[in-house]
Amino acid sequence: MKRATAYFILVLIIVAGCSAYRTAKFNSKYGPVQTVDRTVSAYKPGEVSFHNDVQPILERRCDVCHGCYDAPCQLKLTCYEGLERGGTTKLVYTARLRPEKPTRLFIDANSVEEWRQMGFHPVLNERDQTPQANLEDSVVNLMLQLKKENPQPETELLPASFDISLDRKQICTTAEDFSEYKKKYPLWGMPYALPGLTDKEHKTIVEWLRQGGLITPRPAMSASRKRIPVCLRNSRRDFVSRGFASGVLMVDSSGTAENSNKNCEGGIGHFRSAGFSLRSTQSRFDR
Ligand code: HEC
Repeated sequence: MKRATAYFILVLIIVAGCSAYRTAKFNSKYGPVQTVDRTVSAYKPGEVSFHNDVQPILERRCDVCHGCYDAPCQLKLTCYEGLERGGTTKLVYTARLRPEKPTRLFIDANSVEEWRQMGFHPVLNERDQTPQANLEDSVVNLMLQLKKENPQPETELLPASFDISLDRKQICTTAEDFSEYKKKYPLWGMPYALPGLTDKEHKTIVEWLRQGGLITPRPAMSASRKRIPVCLRNSRRDFVSRGFASGVLMVDSSGTAENSNKNCEGGIGHFRSAGFSLRSTQSRFDR
């Protein structure tokens, strides 16, 4: 028994040591982690725009999983702030003996630094802002690259290495530890368990990351439409046996609401009881 405990502690020390070594290697290659302000007032000609080019791809291919409060690794891709916040190994719903501070985007923390203190790690490069580091230190890029290197196998059934259950064990790797993830789970690139992005979609996101993940102020909303964020749980059972979707209700002046799959917090019941009818027919896979 004692020997087993000693062995366990030794393994823990080795694992922590390897991770620290990989972090030190990243530090010397790409500089230390620091806060990055990615805001620009306008893009230069030819640059990829987050709102116009990247967000529509995330909406079509990623938000079906990375939309809700309990998204995998709590990585929300429904808005730029979710990307900036990054991921965490902490689960939203799990058996716990002590209360845990909630982690609702826009509500429980207001800055990237605060999210880092709450255990979130970056998925965009927060080291030296060079084109090379912008790619090699970004978990988003590494995940997309992994899918390109190992495309979805064209078999009738998903290979057994994919776990699509609700209580799936999550890894939630950092860029530093990505080489380990890649070795162990070569098929787990993004989008998970689904066909990869088209070359055009892939290049668009990668180019935006290479540029430094720059963001301009949000475009103004048209006067007749108002965005109301919602989370539609269990409303789309056709999604890989899980069945949930996320969206924003676009409410036009007649009071008709339409789910256009944008941001997500809150609940649909509230809008239903307020008399909105919901059109939620946009296919998540209509690429
Ligand atoms: C079918 C569901 C699904 C779709 C669609 C999907 N993902 Fe994921 N994503 C996951 C799961 C599950 C994980 C957790 C993998 C793990 O670490 O165990 C994950 C993890 C990630 C991570 C790693 C987060 C971290 O903290 O390490 C990134 C980055 C990511 N996804 C980006 C994307 C992008 C970009 C897209 C769209 C191109 C996408 N995902 C589409 C299910 C999905």
